[in-house]
Amino acid sequence: MCGIIGYVGRQPALPILLGGLRRLEYRGYDSAGIALQEPRGQLTTVRAVGKVARLTEKVNAQLPPAAQVAAQTGIAHTRWATHGAPTEANAHPHAAAEGRLCLVHNGIIENYRSIRARLEAKGHVFLSETDTEALARLIGEHYQGDLRKAVGQALAQVEGAYGIAVLAVDQPGVLVVARKGSPLVLGLGDGETLVASDAAALVAHTRRVIYLDDGDIAVLTADSVDIRDRHDVIREREVAELGLTAGAVEKGGYAHFMLKEIYEQPESVRNALRGRLDAEHGTAVLAGMGTSSRDLAEIQRIILVGCGTSLHAGQVGEFAFEDLADLNAEVQQAAEFRYRNPLVGSHDLVLAISQSGETADTLAAVREAKAKGALVLGLVNVVGSTIARETGQGVFIHAGPEISVASTKAFTGQVAVLLLMALRLGRGRRLSLERGRALVAELARLPELIEQVLAQNDAIASVAARMATAEHAFFLGRGPMHPVALEGALKLKEISYVHAEGYHAAEMKHGPIALLTPGTPVVVLANRSPQLDKVWSNAEECKARGARIVAVVTAGQSADTIADDRIVIPDCDPLVATIPAAVALQLLAYHVARLRGCSIDQPRNLAKSVTVE
Ligand code: M6R
Repeated sequence: MCGIIGYVGRQPALPILLGGLRRLEYRGYDSAGIALQEPRGQLTTVRAVGKVARLTEKVNAQLPPAAQVAAQTGIAHTRWATHGAPTEANAHPHAAAEGRLCLVHNGIIENYRSIRARLEAKGHVFLSETDTEALARLIGEHYQGDLRKAVGQALAQVEGAYGIAVLAVDQPGVLVVARKGSPLVLGLGDGETLVASDAAALVAHTRRVIYLDDGDIAVLTADSVDIRDRHDVIREREVAELGLTAGAVEKGGYAHFMLKEIYEQPESVRNALRGRLDAEHGTAVLAGMGTSSRDLAEIQRIILVGCGTSLHAGQVGEFAFEDLADLNAEVQQAAEFRYRNPLVGSHDLVLAISQSGETADTLAAVREAKAKGALVLGLVNVVGSTIARETGQGVFIHAGPEISVASTKAFTGQVAVLLLMALRLGRGRRLSLERGRALVAELARLPELIEQVLAQNDAIASVAARMATAEHAFFLGRGPMHPVALEGALKLKEISYVHAEGYHAAEMKHGPIALLTPGTPVVVLANRSPQLDKVWSNAEECKARGARIVAVVTAGQSADTIADDRIVIPDCDPLVATIPAAVALQLLAYHVARLRGCSIDQPRNLAKSVTVE
């Protein structure tokens, strides 16, 4: 949520900052800004409402060519508004101390109102509605020539989350950065140092990175990095090697990142499964579960926490743990977890599911569960992310960078790994060798099953064409397909702005069926499963009220008479089928959004990684 990039080195900072912003734009894109520092210290700020392209136009219009290359230090920001509308005045960087310093910020300063009131009483005139300006001015109040000290003193008075980068006119070539609750990663180059809220912005410049810890304040110059922890003690943080390539964060010829990521799923799921299937013993090998078989045998309950798409993946996992491992499993919304006195203890395994590994609510749930003595594992995509580091153990899904705001390959990777975990726990309990082996064989086929769905892209696009003018849609499923229905509805609503609801198929008649009008699309997950007859009955009830039925059916299934449109998924185990079905619904949402002319990778009002509560 909000993207930050900073540079200090010996090259012109402007193209590096704008290039970084373009890579970070998926984190927020309602306004953007940049501050450039010339070698003698002078700061020039340009801010614009809208996307980075708009900022670039404005920079080119306002800054003469010489000024564009003079600065070798700078900070930049792309915003997802929390406090105050997306206006130029609210865009970052925010200046303070009569323009002697400026700051970019990701996160929320929760006590900004009292800080603002205090400063206004002292005569400060605020120019924006943001919490960030309060922090900038607070640093300005403390600033007497030592920027690091001023930042430390100001941060000691703030509550909330922040990742910040600050420049001061009289400290040219020095960038002070700090984090608490919002990610910041340093990039170490040859005679240059970068900072970003996301490693994707660094990969074109360096692969050597340092992930800052919560509470760290770092002073960066072209040749040095000085990190102090929350107790002001100098720290040597580990230098990690980025696994990313620059190509992984490019569209690679696809019209949208979302489409690229949908098409990457045979490979990303293969990566999630790689080295983890044990065909002989009919089980999964998951070193990241990290716990001895004895400890795993003692687990009495699994609690899966996450938000959005990750929550839906957890809901599929709930079925898998109960079915395969005979384990009591429940899904809890991460946002609620720490506020409801969760009854969690040492016999509980809490699985924190997150693509980004930075979602504030999921992170808070991790901390709460750890404090209560549960075994906490992460199911994360981004290596080096806060949840991955704070859980310290867990399983990566290895999906590669997911840039599109709408999550696709993360969902299928999460479900694949949850099935592996359930298999592993099941084989340690009562799951038979025979069923274990059968499941391993099914899971091994997953990349091929996904290919078969992708091969129907044109057919799915035709179904989408018949849905594209609808303003409302319903998605229905039972059993493990219920969360897939929720996910299908989420995909459609977030990228196409069609109002879509996912329901358990049996729930329609308890109220929502009143919303059906002739022609309303109802997408029914009617794949081979023990509950198929019931699903068809529920679809009939909708059809009888004039709904248009789009059925997701299993290849070879006997023909039904009620579907107006059919999307075929390959025959496989009903738990495994959640993955090809989800891929089909991703394509459906994608094509509806494309036909409606929506901004697919950057839907309105959203941002990729939600680092505020
Ligand atoms: O990074 P996370 O998996 O923790 O993110 C959770 C949600 O914010 C995310 O899945 C969101 O719902 C996506 N936009 C869905 O496509």
